[in-house]
Amino acid sequence: MLNVAVLVSGGGTNLQAIIDAIADHTIQDARICLVLSNNRGVYALERARKAKLPSRVVSPADFPDREKFNEALLAAVKESGADLVVLAGFLCVIPEKMVRAYENRILNIHPSLIPAFCGKGYYGLKVHEAALARGVRISGATVHFVDSGTDTGPIILQKAVEVLPEDTPKSLQLRIMEQAEWKILPQAIDLIAQGRVAVEGRSVRILQQAGA
Ligand code: GAR
Repeated sequence: MLNVAVLVSGGGTNLQAIIDAIADHTIQDARICLVLSNNRGVYALERARKAKLPSRVVSPADFPDREKFNEALLAAVKESGADLVVLAGFLCVIPEKMVRAYENRILNIHPSLIPAFCGKGYYGLKVHEAALARGVRISGATVHFVDSGTDTGPIILQKAVEVLPEDTPKSLQLRIMEQAEWKILPQAIDLIAQGRVAVEGRSVRILQQAGA
């Protein structure tokens, strides 16, 4: 059984997709051992409560400096017994120490087709604003492992989504969530739980069977 810590900052629709996929067995052999938020009062925490999942707030506001916050974040994840850490709309920079402690065991969902519209400053609606400003016809989402850069780690899954002429950042965000994010994030977790994801340098190979 793969223990998954899900880190959130906001509404938690990706968290909900994971909860639902575990409930309907789209994700097998995995359970959520912790929902951690850096923000109090966000709806993601309510989703955790409704699903009777253990949750915690680790907020930078509660610590004298970033270093102490980073230590508390890592300690909370370690205490949860997580084998895999999933950043599901978690908008804090992951400390270097945590990246090293969980090498190729931290997943991130990003709402574009990396390497487009990613890196520093590209998060949430800003990504979709940039895609619309550039006039792309296709966008989508990417699930990747987290390395020490921003959105630079090995890519596991991507899914393309059409951009429509009448799109606003919000309508594009919602379509990308529905058609891509809520599908490929649970799918990537299941592949990892099944031992079917092999990292080879900067790329990922999806195995037909575990270890094959
Ligand atoms: C999602 O669209 C996710 O891809 C994005 O934040 C949103 C969180 O929504 N993440 C990033 O932009 C990371 N760079 P949610 O709280 O409803 O899952």
